[in-house]
Amino acid sequence: MLQHNEFTGKTVFVAGGTSGINLGIAKAFAAAGAKVAVFSRSQERVDAAVATLRELTSDAMGFSGDVRDMASVQDALSKTHEAWGTIDVLCSGAAGNFVAPAAVMSPNGFKSVMDIDLLGSFHVLRAAYPYLTKPGASIINISAPQASKATPMQAHVCAAKAGVDMLTKVLAMEWGPEGVRVNSIVPGPIAGTEGMERLTPTPESKAAVTQNMPLRRYGEISDVANVAVMLSSSVFNYVTGVVLPVDGGASLAGPGLLGGQP
Ligand code: COA
Ligand code: NAP
Repeated sequence: MLQHNEFTGKTVFVAGGTSGINLGIAKAFAAAGAKVAVFSRSQERVDAAVATLRELTSDAMGFSGDVRDMASVQDALSKTHEAWGTIDVLCSGAAGNFVAPAAVMSPNGFKSVMDIDLLGSFHVLRAAYPYLTKPGASIINISAPQASKATPMQAHVCAAKAGVDMLTKVLAMEWGPEGVRVNSIVPGPIAGTEGMERLTPTPESKAAVTQNMPLRRYGEISDVANVAVMLSSSVFNYVTGVVLPVDGGASLAGPGLLGGQP
């Protein structure tokens, strides 16, 4: 059973937690009583996210930095630990995306997404490891359907997120003996997000994504955020190394996030 006040006094760090799904996750933990720190590049976004979180908790902090820069990640985690004494939950969700065919994608374009999504995830996980309160610590990596569904014009994201899911599994093996759980959440198409606006900017492209999926609709940010909280709770304390779709069944059928184009 989920314990009352389960997250009271617990500390959560959300990398990329200043907008969209990741901010939704930060808010859900704050609403559940946790102290929450967020981290992303834009100081403006960090300030806005902290202001939003402070409507839910007085214990909210933010840091500007880039997951591609290990020193900035380490600095933010160290300051969070210094302020609150523990880090109980780590969510790694910073990501970048654009739509481009591999045949014309520049190597630097491919590298940018690999550096943010995959190397950035490693930086976050590696830097947080010494601080994670163990046993009972929960790590959640935010993956994507492209990790397992070959998606044209998404070679960079497919490769990077497949790597993220494999990191989840390997670190579940390596850190499990210390009581640290590591899982991936795979959001399906989520309404009102930057990610889906980039992939499906038109009503036609949006309709193509949902036409064959079981629930026939986009999800809400709260659908993913609530699962992140539950997955980090004691209810799930025997679950590690899983790659969990939160996608209205989209992984069973349908054309993927780009609606099967081209
Ligand atoms: N098509 C093809 N290549 C593109 C591109 C596009 N739409 N957008 C960027 N690139 C290429 C650039 O041309 C550049 O390569 P080059 O130096 O060979 O020209 C490379 O990607 C890096 O671009 P830059 O703008 O310098 O990268 P950045 O580090 O400032 O930003 C991105 C990274 C490109 C991923 C950017 O879109 C971003 O910051 N995204 C975060 C938000 C987001 O994507 N949200 C959705 C999450 S799923
Ligand atoms: P979003 O709103 O663009 O959020 C991305 C966040 O990451 C922002 O806070 C951004 O802030 C931060 N970020 C980006 N690059 C960064 C970097 N180099 N260093 C630090 N922070 C960085 O995106 P979203 O659509 O909600 O997606 C969130 C996550 O869900 C991603 O991992 C994505 O792959 C996954 N996902 C989304 C969907 C969907 O439906 N949207 C579906 C499947 C998976 P700054 O710009 O300030 O850095």
